[in-house]
Amino acid sequence: MEEKKYSLTKKELNTEKSKAIGRFASVASHDLKNVLGSLLNMSYYFTKVLKVEGEMPNKMLGLLSSEIKRLNNMVTELLDMTRVKQLTKESCDLFGILTKSIENSKVEGINFEVNLSHIKIHADILRMTQVFSSIIKNAKDAMQNKGTISVKMVVNENFVDVVITDDGIGMDEETLENCFDPMFSTKTTKAVGMGLTVSLQIVEMHGGKIKIETEKGNGCAVYVTLPIIK
Ligand SMILES: Nc1ncnc2c1ncn2[C@@H]1O[C@H](COP(=O)(O)OP(=O)(O)OP(=O)(O)O)[C@@H](O)[C@H]1O
Ligand SMILES: [Mg+2]
Repeated sequence: MEEKKYSLTKKELNTEKSKAIGRFASVASHDLKNVLGSLLNMSYYFTKVLKVEGEMPNKMLGLLSSEIKRLNNMVTELLDMTRVKQLTKESCDLFGILTKSIENSKVEGINFEVNLSHIKIHADILRMTQVFSSIIKNAKDAMQNKGTISVKMVVNENFVDVVITDDGIGMDEETLENCFDPMFSTKTTKAVGMGLTVSLQIVEMHGGKIKIETEKGNGCAVYVTLPIIK
């Protein structure tokens, strides 16, 4: 019998991998949220129903419920990071989205060179802010929080290019080839390797694309191309 051969392109493989990670995150976070919900109820019971007395026990209970809420937010973030389901698009100003993303990313040591104009796009504001914050975060990481990040726009007839440039460590060929792969990261601490995967997914769901120009040791330029509303 003839053996069937199945082969997927890198893009198809990445889509399948992302979907699997998204499904896992969704099941895991659903279960975790249930457990966190019961823990929160229990701490409410001790505080408000049993009315535990004493400064120390109450301090501990307060800490318990705030830590549970923090964990709950982290689970929500994990879900946002790994799965893009539906977008809520509206007509908005790209200027506002970029200004907010830059504001969120400001730290001492990083200098921003910004050249933006008011451009109307049809976008999910939160998700698009997530995209630019994530790209700027990568730039900051590449410069070890010291240097200049430039954010500018190049407006064409139907599209706008947002160009985010850093003068950090840049990428070697292998990193550039794999940087959009799910869970690909060259970072040792705290990185999941989903930033560019999810950003590309979100941008493509807006009819756009992402292109990267880089050289090892010579920084990185990320081009996010999005359709304009006329
Ligand atoms: N501006 C940049 N300069 C140099 N390398 C970069 C830059 N942006 C991305 N990279 C490389 O691409 C890899 C993948 O980036 P991505 O944002 O997907 O994941 P991450 O930053 O490692 O983790 P996460 O974003 O999930 O916290 C990074 O680990 C890094 O090697
Ligand atoms: Mg990242």
